[in-house]
Amino acid sequence: MNQDSPLFKDLTSILYTEAELRDAVAALGKRITLDYQGKAPLMVCILKGASVFFTDLIRQIDLPLEIEFMAISSYGASTVSSGEVRMVKDLDRPILGRDVLIVDDIVDSGMTLSFLKRTLTNRGAGSLRLVTLLDKPSRRTVPLTVDYSCFQIPDAFVVGYGLDYDEKYRNLPLVGVLDPKVYTK
Ligand code: IMP
Ligand code: MG
Repeated sequence: MNQDSPLFKDLTSILYTEAELRDAVAALGKRITLDYQGKAPLMVCILKGASVFFTDLIRQIDLPLEIEFMAISSYGASTVSSGEVRMVKDLDRPILGRDVLIVDDIVDSGMTLSFLKRTLTNRGAGSLRLVTLLDKPSRRTVPLTVDYSCFQIPDAFVVGYGLDYDEKYRNLPLVGVLDPKVYTK
């Protein structure tokens, strides 16, 4: 993507370049491959934010894994969580006894992933771990520990590599901080 793109002009800084994302995702894929030796994990992508990270990550995991997709209601045109988590699309198959990895783009308040963890644990997953590209620990309102994350970031609203503001910027190949001018009017 051209750096003159209008999408780039709305960023105040670049947090992670394409190369940094590629290296971090490759390292994470190696870790998961080692940790799940002899297993066939079920990787669950949380739409839509995790889609870009997920498709890169699964290709860095050398295991006979399977994939599933779930969708959770998101912020809409806001940078602050509504506090309400709603399932928009459920899994297609049961997960009883499976080694499940939930893959999301970012953990902010922790509400989304704690809801998903509770829901999939209740369905009898054999094991369940949380994977996220980005973690904003300073924003947590519910206690939640992420098992695998690529980067811990400060409290800023970021976009790109799947992460959106009002459904835009998901196709930016890097992660950047969105200019507050875009969402404070
Ligand atoms: P949580 O339930 O508050 O942890 O929110 C997690 C969800 O909020 C993520 O899956 C994202 O969709 C969205 N989110 C949180 N922070 C950001 C951000 O900085 N940029 C874009 N989306 C975000
Ligand atoms: Mg989102």
